[in-house]
Amino acid sequence: MSEIRTPEHPVDSLFLKRWSPRAFTGEAIDDATLLTLFEAARWAPSAYNAQPWRFIYSKNGSESWPQFLEILFEFNRSWARNASALVIVLSKTSFIPPGKTEPQPFPSHSFDTGAAWASLALQATLSGWPAHGIGGIDKDKARTLLAIPDDYAIEEGIVVGKQGDKSGLSESLRERETPSARKPLASLIAEGRFTFTD
Ligand SMILES: Cc1cc2nc3c(=O)[nH]c(=O)nc-3n(C[C@H](O)[C@H](O)[C@H](O)COP(=O)(O)O)c2cc1C
Repeated sequence: MSEIRTPEHPVDSLFLKRWSPRAFTGEAIDDATLLTLFEAARWAPSAYNAQPWRFIYSKNGSESWPQFLEILFEFNRSWARNASALVIVLSKTSFIPPGKTEPQPFPSHSFDTGAAWASLALQATLSGWPAHGIGGIDKDKARTLLAIPDDYAIEEGIVVGKQGDKSGLSESLRERETPSARKPLASLIAEGRFTFTD
């Protein structure tokens, strides 16, 4: 693992190995692998075990692929077109609490779906098909093109692929094609009360 990804405290190497490449080979992803990624997401924790996450996906070369590419902002489209699958992550914003019959707003729909995305990303690293989260998507376009009802929030996109050679990237992206560092742990945690300066 690179110098920049040295943990301050012992953690499983999986957490350091996961990163978000943009250079992909474009090769086809098999259904078994793709389903394994979603399977990992499926086991994430959620309030009331409501499981608000939903995933709409497209595989490179499929009929829906051009539509999915169209949803991406141009910057993301420029590199994600060489991916193997694109995923739009949704979360259901309402749920029926235990013992009730009427749907209510589900406050942790985004938080819980974030946990599912993180599980997917970690499994993606384990499976050798890295996943790159992208917020740069046109959510209005996604809602229309994919016929997403109003009670589902559009959270983000995920780009999945086999990592390729960075020589295929533009010069500016080539420079950024490397695992990134993290803030010091001390700046992220506080004991007893709020002491953050940033
Ligand atoms: C919700 C979310 C949105 C992101 N949006 C984009 C994006 O639109 N384009 C992009 O190239 N990377 C995007 N990223 C990738 C982040 O820049 C990346 O995760 C971050 O720099 C940390 O790097 P690492 O994932 O390689 O550890 C996004 C990541 C997340 C989790």
